[in-house]
Amino acid sequence: MKTQVIRCAKRETSRVTCRKNVLERALPAALAAYGEVFLFTDETVFALYGKKVRAALGDIPVFAMPAGERYKTHETLFALLSAMAEAGLHRTACLVCLGGGVVGDIGGLAASLYMRGIACIQVPTTLLSQVDSSVGGKTAIDFCGVKNLVGAFFQPREVFADPAFFATLPAREVRCGLGEIVKHGALSADIFDALQANRDRLSDLSFLAGIVPANIAFKAGVVRADPTEKGLRKCLNLGHTTAHAFELSDGKLSHGEYVLVGTLFEAEYAKSLEGSDEAYLCALQALCLAVLGGMPSLPDAGEAARAALLDKKNTGKGSVVLTVPFAKGEWRLAELPVAKYAQTLAAIGRKLC
Ligand code: NAD
Ligand code: GLY
Repeated sequence: MKTQVIRCAKRETSRVTCRKNVLERALPAALAAYGEVFLFTDETVFALYGKKVRAALGDIPVFAMPAGERYKTHETLFALLSAMAEAGLHRTACLVCLGGGVVGDIGGLAASLYMRGIACIQVPTTLLSQVDSSVGGKTAIDFCGVKNLVGAFFQPREVFADPAFFATLPAREVRCGLGEIVKHGALSADIFDALQANRDRLSDLSFLAGIVPANIAFKAGVVRADPTEKGLRKCLNLGHTTAHAFELSDGKLSHGEYVLVGTLFEAEYAKSLEGSDEAYLCALQALCLAVLGGMPSLPDAGEAARAALLDKKNTGKGSVVLTVPFAKGEWRLAELPVAKYAQTLAAIGRKLC
């Protein structure tokens, strides 16, 4: 399949390839260039794919973290760095991150820190990590109650997205991946049309495998134009301010599910903006609800608004910055004083929930 190349700086080139049999074929070939290889994964993924990894890569050192967002911490990051140091990795080593967005984000950050940067290859195993988190070089851990507070831009040398991993993915994780796909749909008319035309196939793995390359190509295009989020890349935060606010104050749903909730809320807010396309925004909301299977119960809006104030996208003037959908393929930045944001969330919550 086609490879996307992202050139972010003189020495930073990242290649993203969608292909089958990554563990058996692509990875051993790509790793031949490195002196040492270290695998970072989580316990769930290693239980499922450890045997295949061993068959393909032999007896390489492995660090498997417990699965889940609550382990996206500095403790896990430093445990990984310790394991890398104990394995005696040199600058010429490559860290392979096999797993979802949590593994990819922590592993990418560890690769950026170890000896001031070693090579990293991302092998994303969830739908969300294939269409979004593995591409573009954002790495992070959650810290002091703030999502992704500590991190770095650090491009992986390669990303290999293999749809075969979806075979073991629980239905809920498919829904989470769809959260970021719907976000891309809110930014790209082509992806929106594909989702609308396939409303009855949104959980069909062959349909999803088919739209992964378009999602990667869309994200890679944005990252190529603005690798460090000075302008255009802010579009990829659509729905995320409200998603992170609910995620931090509640934490009962997964990141991708909160992205759908955030997109629903922010689409409702966008209807109040002059010139926005209400019919389109309603269609986008219907798509979010179709994936969520109905409106989930949500925490108090005031608490969520206070959590939003800590969001790293804010400018620090007591206001909250949002990237909102506006019309098909169009988005806008909005900045609301926190009290107004809290009122807006509460009013929208009363209407939608
Ligand atoms: P995750 O990494 O927690 O994976 C979800 C669950 O699926 C885990 O329990 C994992 O063990 C399991 N799993 C992974 N692959 C599997 C497979 N093939 N079969 C069965 N189970 C499997 O979560 P995620 O949804 O992949 O990623 C969410 C994270 O990504 C969040 O921390 C979010 O902040 C981050 N993120 C980062 C970016 C970025 O640009 N860096 C973008 C979006 C999201
Ligand atoms: N997921 C948002 C970004 O990569 O910029």
